[in-house]
Amino acid sequence: MQLIEGRNLPRHVGIIMDGNGRWAELRGERREAGHKAGSAAVRRIVRVGRRLGLDALTLYAFSEQNWARPPGEVDALMGLLREYLVSEWDEIMGNGIRLVAIGDVSRLPEPVRDALDPLRSASSHNGAMTLALALSYGGREEIATAARELAAEAVAGRITPDQIDVAALSARIPSLSVGDPDLIIRTGGEQRISNFLLFGAAYAELAFTDRLWPDFTEDDLFAAIASYQRRERRFGRVGVKTP
Ligand code: IPE
Ligand code: IPE
Ligand code: MG
Repeated sequence: MQLIEGRNLPRHVGIIMDGNGRWAELRGERREAGHKAGSAAVRRIVRVGRRLGLDALTLYAFSEQNWARPPGEVDALMGLLREYLVSEWDEIMGNGIRLVAIGDVSRLPEPVRDALDPLRSASSHNGAMTLALALSYGGREEIATAARELAAEAVAGRITPDQIDVAALSARIPSLSVGDPDLIIRTGGEQRISNFLLFGAAYAELAFTDRLWPDFTEDDLFAAIASYQRRERRFGRVGVKTP
């Protein structure tokens, strides 16, 4: 933690939690065992994010495309998700965390929604950190939905087409309700975005680590944040360090 400056913290961190399956395969276990270990890592990292004072932490837990995995694996993931939501109630409420979900939650099985909805409402006024769970989430799908909503408003005559700009789209993109992500971390060694926070990722700093998600520790998070703090974000402008 000494690696990190108190100021210049990323406000919004997104994590692509990848590598559960490989973690299990390396141990000769079923992929489901990797997901179970992955949910323990979620508990750890949420606690650290809160302690650090992040405004928002967005965790990519299940993509729209992950529905295409074998049904047994999808069931196991949904079971773990429900278990997480039920068991973390006190932790989330006790720490003033606001839990939100992004993605097409209507696709989630009823037992998951039954655990998710009360926690979302109960925590909606908490102010310490927003924990956004990306569930049945796709960045392209999210942009398409926002575009569809704006098109409907234009057809209804409430807006004109020239009012459809970046700000109008951003305002309808749920993953950006907590602001653009400043830092996106991907564990598991792959260097790709896999449909995560596409619109908001425009100027996010990216950090890739080979660490598999179940092995991701608070030190790995601190290292990613320390790396973020050494970078100069230019947003297309000329840097202050440029002579
Ligand atoms: C990430 O781990 C969890 C989800 C995508 C739900 P994976 O299950 O993708 O693990 P690998 O990439 O196969 O190792
Ligand atoms: C991204 O990981 C999705 C989540 C971490 C939830 P994937 O394992 O699904 O991504 P790909 O298939 O390697 O791109
Ligand atoms: Mg993967």
